[in-house]
Amino acid sequence: MDDVVLTSEDKAALEELRSQLDRYEKSTANLIPILQMIQEKVKFLPPAAIKMVAGFLEIPSSQVYGVATFYNQFKFNPPGKNPIKVCLGTACHVRAGDIILENFERKLGIREGETTEDREFSIDRVACVGCCALAPVAIMGKTVHGHMAPSKVEGLVMRVQIEREKAERERQKNESGQN
Ligand code: FES
Repeated sequence: MDDVVLTSEDKAALEELRSQLDRYEKSTANLIPILQMIQEKVKFLPPAAIKMVAGFLEIPSSQVYGVATFYNQFKFNPPGKNPIKVCLGTACHVRAGDIILENFERKLGIREGETTEDREFSIDRVACVGCCALAPVAIMGKTVHGHMAPSKVEGLVMRVQIEREKAERERQKNESGQN
């Protein structure tokens, strides 16, 4: 997890949080509330945040990390702008959900639980999302893709990339029109 590259926004948010730590008493009872505050602000717990909390509470980083990893609510990678959730509940699993997950991982060059360097995509496995009749299911952003197939992975990722390029071209056109 040491290779998470922080954006300037992440750094600014952490800096701001540093000053808010003094609101808390230096007690390990406050560890989870502090981690929750950081996650709410930064959306994940980067290594710098773990070190900061350890320093504040005067406990080893490994203890902070150990507690944080115990709870599913804490993330150690930044969320992608297009979060991908692949359902591996029973109905999806028996219909090749794991191969769909593997194809996303291969296509994007990351593992589940990780985020691409440009922060465009992140991949997570999830348990049943409640629409087993559509199995296997993957969710990209807010769109549920039912009856998924490993062969559809490439097209879905490409569609997002094409839309992003289109938006970027529009933005540049608008900017040059304003000058
Ligand atoms: S198991 Fe995937 S939607 Fe139910």
